[in-house]
Amino acid sequence: MGFCKGWNFKWVIFYFSLLLMEAVKGSYDPESLGVFFHDHANKELEKPRTGTLYNISLPANFSGMEVSVVRIRSGTFWARGVNFSFFNIPPRIVPDPYAKRLAIVYENLGNWSSYYYNVTGYSLVAPVVGFMVYDSSNSSAVGIQKLNFTIRGDPITVRFPQVELKGKNVTAKCVKFGAGGTVKLKNMTKPNVCTTEGQGHFTIVIPSPPKKERCILWWIFGFGIGLLGLILLSLVLLGIITFVRRIRIEKMERKSEKGVAFDTFWIGGSKMPSASMIRTQPTLENDYNP
Ligand SMILES: *[C@@H]1O[C@H](CO)[C@@H](O)[C@H](O)[C@H]1NC(C)=O
Ligand SMILES: *[C@@H]1O[C@H](CO)[C@@H](O)[C@H](O)[C@H]1NC(C)=O
Ligand SMILES: *[C@@H]1O[C@H](CO)[C@@H](O)[C@H](O)[C@H]1NC(C)=O
Ligand SMILES: *[C@@H]1O[C@H](CO)[C@@H](O)[C@H](O)[C@H]1NC(C)=O
Ligand SMILES: *[C@@H]1O[C@H](CO)[C@@H](O)[C@H](O)[C@H]1NC(C)=O
Ligand SMILES: *[C@@H]1O[C@H](CO)[C@@H](O)[C@H](O)[C@H]1NC(C)=O
Ligand SMILES: *[C@@H]1O[C@H](CO)[C@@H](O)[C@H](O)[C@H]1NC(C)=O
Ligand SMILES: *[C@@H]1O[C@H](CO)[C@@H](O)[C@H](O)[C@H]1NC(C)=O
Ligand SMILES: *[C@@H]1O[C@H](CO)[C@@H](O)[C@H](O)[C@H]1NC(C)=O
Repeated sequence: MGFCKGWNFKWVIFYFSLLLMEAVKGSYDPESLGVFFHDHANKELEKPRTGTLYNISLPANFSGMEVSVVRIRSGTFWARGVNFSFFNIPPRIVPDPYAKRLAIVYENLGNWSSYYYNVTGYSLVAPVVGFMVYDSSNSSAVGIQKLNFTIRGDPITVRFPQVELKGKNVTAKCVKFGAGGTVKLKNMTKPNVCTTEGQGHFTIVIPSPPKKERCILWWIFGFGIGLLGLILLSLVLLGIITFVRRIRIEKMERKSEKGVAFDTFWIGGSKMPSASMIRTQPTLENDYNP
């Protein structure tokens, strides 16, 4: 108890539920969420006007997340850039491969952020926001084909809403979650602002206190010791049970010996305990006597 201050039963339950959450973690897959948003936006978007941002309505159980889409001509994209959602996309960016028209899908995971994204050793202090670019040339909606782009001017900036650090003396960092589960940390140059050269998901993190993790380690350690103890205890118990059983058998044997002795006393006239008789038999039959 001494090594984890404030530890009590509710924390045990808490960590067990953490373990349980870990087990069902598969249901919060960011990649499939992105695919769902893309498909959903393609279905929901009707006759969008170029250069206008459209909010996409999501099913009720996604409440707390926000998805919006804008379609834009490549020429405009190059000449003026796009400022929507949390993203400031400056001019002089070229889609790669070239497309006549683009669609940008913006996401804000809101209070769901930490369900889908985490950084080991850090905790999220801003929502996870993201943007993806698609080739929208042949579509009246978002389109299917994802696009890369090349930045010839300034990088893209991500402006987060006021991040509350609750008076903690910590340095916040920018995080980019890229394709294939890559995580990149970067120092923040301006408060609440991150910069990027490519699309993906972004957030701000602060180092999380290592105390809890040490506590978890202690618990894993303690669990191992406990398991070992349990095994030892069951071995000892097994030993005791065998011992007791043997004693009981010996007692029974002795009882039956007495019974036999009693019988032989009356019948044979001499006392010949069966057990020792069997044991001494080989020496009697053997010629060799030391
Ligand atoms: C889209 O949603 C955001 C956040 O809920 C809201 O601020 C904005 O006004 C909405 N825009 C439109 C065009 O509905
Ligand atoms: C909402 O429900 C659907 C199926 O009913 C499920 O696939 C989806 O993951 C749920 N959304 C969230 C945010 O869990
Ligand atoms: C996020 O907030 C909405 C209400 O704004 C709520 O319906 C939803 O359950 C919340 N999601 C989580 C994961 O807490
Ligand atoms: C985007 O915002 C920047 C500065 O915040 C501004 O200089 C630029 O003109 C804006 N671009 C558009 C297309 O509104
Ligand atoms: C953190 O994210 C990684 C990859 O996205 C995942 O494998 C891991 O289970 C997550 N951990 C927690 C505690 O959510
Ligand atoms: C769009 O359509 C044109 C002509 O129909 C075709 O050449 C081009 O490959 C299509 N682009 C995409 C991204 O499907
Ligand atoms: C975008 O670039 C990445 C790496 O730079 C590459 O793996 C990916 O295939 C590219 N996607 C497209 C649609 O060109
Ligand atoms: C914050 O912590 C650093 C060392 O980690 C220290 O040098 C600095 O004075 C602290 N600032 C405040 C405002 O406490
Ligand atoms: C990031 O900031 C930390 C301290 O705030 C500093 O030690 C480190 O060198 C910085 N890293 C980069 C790449 O600037």
